[in-house]
Amino acid sequence: MRFSGKTVIVTGSGSGIGAVTARRFAAEGANAVIADIDFSAAERVAASIPGSLALEVDVTSRKSLGAMVRAVDTRFGGTDVLINNAATCSDASFLQIAPEEVERDLAVGLMGPFFASQEIVPGMIERGGGVILNVGSVNGLSYFGNEAYSAAKAGLLSLTRSIAIQYGRNNIRCNAVAPGTVATEYWDHRRELDPLVFEKAAQWYPLGRIGEPADVADALLFLASDAAAWITGVVLPVDGGLLSGNLAMARAVAPERSEPSGDA
Ligand SMILES: NC(=O)c1ccc[n+]([C@@H]2O[C@H](COP(=O)([O-])OP(=O)(O)OC[C@H]3O[C@@H](n4cnc5c(N)ncnc54)[C@H](O)[C@@H]3O)[C@@H](O)[C@H]2O)c1
Repeated sequence: MRFSGKTVIVTGSGSGIGAVTARRFAAEGANAVIADIDFSAAERVAASIPGSLALEVDVTSRKSLGAMVRAVDTRFGGTDVLINNAATCSDASFLQIAPEEVERDLAVGLMGPFFASQEIVPGMIERGGGVILNVGSVNGLSYFGNEAYSAAKAGLLSLTRSIAIQYGRNNIRCNAVAPGTVATEYWDHRRELDPLVFEKAAQWYPLGRIGEPADVADALLFLASDAAAWITGVVLPVDGGLLSGNLAMARAVAPERSEPSGDA
């Protein structure tokens, strides 16, 4: 049990990657805090995790985040791991996205982790250390659409390095993961528009499939664990190889070099 006695807050864990991550931490002994703006969703997840705590938290509000940290202190005596996972992503195009949608994607995806880290760091320093993990995206490293969301995710990588460098001597580690397409509720709307969207996305992945929430959760558990004790300030793509290159392009520009690769 890698996380016995440890307390882990996962924001946005009423759904998707966050919910699976909270469940896996709890399965390895952690006290899981399910923090979500959708309290009924948080309660549903918490109901299936014995000993967990559901909280209604809006990560765009520093006041709400302060109340979260105090509630966790009262219930569990402090926070060992904070996972900044909540995000929103407008589907509007660059020229049509409304100012309030840009503000929301930046507020939830970037300002939220900023404020949450401000709230959590003093207690971690006092307790002798901790781990902050940020759930980024391949969109923070390369272009895949959703400009406001992508800007938030790129900023999140800068925040990851800032915290890692500034608080390393306080035994606080800070790292990020950058998932590619992951099958979660987030995609429900797009799947209604195009039921084949996952199959289409899978074609772009060198490993031949899109991700499952557990793929990301496993990476987060590793980065939170003592096995990652000397890793800080990094971003780990969890993307089935997406960012590593493009075989279709390599073949298109030099077809004579093509070799069977099992994907025909
Ligand atoms: N699913 C993917 O394909 C994918 C790909 C790359 C990165 N990610 C990242 O993974 C993380 C989780 O994504 P997901 O697919 O599980 O999403 P999801 O939509 O299933 O879950 C997001 C959760 O965040 C909560 N939330 C939204 N605004 C909030 C706020 N202001 N305060 C607190 N909670 C709030 C929602 O209520 C929801 O429960 C996000 O950071 C997302 O950007 C997802």
